[in-house]
Amino acid sequence: MSLNGLPVILVVDDDERNREMLAEALGQAGFEVETASAGMEALNKAGAVAYDAVLSDIRMVPFSGLDLLDSLHKTTPEMPIVLLTAFGSVDTAIQAMKQGAFDYIPKPVNLDELILTMKRAVEYRRLIEDNRSLQQAFSERPRAASLIGQSKKMVEVFKLVGKVSRSRTAVLIQGESGTGKELIARAIHDNSTRAANRFVAINCSAIPDSLLESELFGHAKGSFTGAHTTRRGLLEEASGGTLFLDEVGDLSPAGQAKLLRVLQEGEIRRVGSNESVRVDFRIIAASRRNLADLVAAGRFREDLLYRLNTVTILMPALRERPEDIPLLAEFFLARYGDQKEVPVTSFSSTAMKSLVGYSWPGNVRELEHVVERAVTLASHAILSVDDLPPAMLQKTSGNSKHAVMFPGTLKALQREQVLKMLESTHGNKERTARLLGISRRTLYRLLERYRADKIQPSVESDVQGTVEP
Ligand SMILES: Nc1ncnc2c1ncn2[C@@H]1O[C@H](COP(=O)(O)OP(=O)(O)OP(=O)(O)O)[C@@H](O)[C@H]1O
Ligand SMILES: [Mg+2]
Repeated sequence: MSLNGLPVILVVDDDERNREMLAEALGQAGFEVETASAGMEALNKAGAVAYDAVLSDIRMVPFSGLDLLDSLHKTTPEMPIVLLTAFGSVDTAIQAMKQGAFDYIPKPVNLDELILTMKRAVEYRRLIEDNRSLQQAFSERPRAASLIGQSKKMVEVFKLVGKVSRSRTAVLIQGESGTGKELIARAIHDNSTRAANRFVAINCSAIPDSLLESELFGHAKGSFTGAHTTRRGLLEEASGGTLFLDEVGDLSPAGQAKLLRVLQEGEIRRVGSNESVRVDFRIIAASRRNLADLVAAGRFREDLLYRLNTVTILMPALRERPEDIPLLAEFFLARYGDQKEVPVTSFSSTAMKSLVGYSWPGNVRELEHVVERAVTLASHAILSVDDLPPAMLQKTSGNSKHAVMFPGTLKALQREQVLKMLESTHGNKERTARLLGISRRTLYRLLERYRADKIQPSVESDVQGTVEP
């Protein structure tokens, strides 16, 4: 708090124009603002002054926003830190939240959103100061999850993943088929303190009622014909780790009742045994169908829903985030394209246009299959429209509602990949070049070109992939 009672924010950015712009906007919104032009400078300042909040860019060299977060979190864990970055990559979003960032704002910055966030940060700081309960620093090694997505909707999902990873809250993941529900469940587990223990997935629609009990609870030796040995059930296997209940909406009424009891009591009894065993698992459930609707229809227990949906994550359909399609397509191409004798390396621009314009009822899984199939059929290094399923093209062309403009896709993707890699190596050009498999000279040439491009404002939109209805 400054002398005149205003909350004080430290704005950190090595780009002077950005720094001034942020400082001015926050100043007008009623904050007192100080600035730093480098991570180290910020660290020194924050050591001397108790700021109400810090707003920092992530991409700074050599001391990045994440480094700053890390250091400040150790010395002054009560100081909320909000991070900014141009490339809303999954890794940084999850990493930032996991390392304890208060929030994460993707560029280009929406000033209203920024101001709201900073107000919340300052309030949070007050709350903490009031009851002096410092939260624990979260120190878990990061895991590389192959989660792709840069759209606003997915960045929100990744933020949530980072947040819920730090607790053992029950999480319900809802979304259409193929949107990545299971992948998200695994990401939560992998980023949690339970990562060293098991992730046990149960597909509730695949277990018949007659087997449910022994599958879930295990059985004692001799409890029924064929039970020659004592067997631990899946709930016991998951103890210490995470239990993933896939398609939980398909659980029978009997199954729902049994599950509810376990969640209430925290213990199970093997079939044919009188002994209870304590189980401690984190529960993540997923459903294609809306559970609230099932409750309304009398097909799902409301009390069970309340045990499952402490936090709900809604997976957006792929057609709601077309800007993720090129990224995902390139990702799957890299996965399957290398396996061929003549590697398949890219998409023709019309092929990419078709992919972006399609409505993807099967979401990411369908996209993955389309790319895999195209790679199998392709006779060239570049995938063309002819390699895509004819049925898909019919739905794309002539449907002006889905017509999409996607200028300079490949160049933009390459540029994005390069800058992302540079960010993840904290600006180390030699490592970046090595990781990208290009010479340092090539890297310098590319960076030179991006810098030149930046002068022409129209190119900037390439990065996000402009989608016009
Ligand atoms: N954001 C993403 N990044 C990379 N791969 C993804 C992403 N989302 C989904 N996938 C891939 O798409 C496929 C489908 O994902 P997943 O199985 O998690 O979907 P789901 O929502 O559980 O589908 P269903 O409801 O049909 O079970 C998987 O191969 C997964 O790896
Ligand atoms: Mg699934």
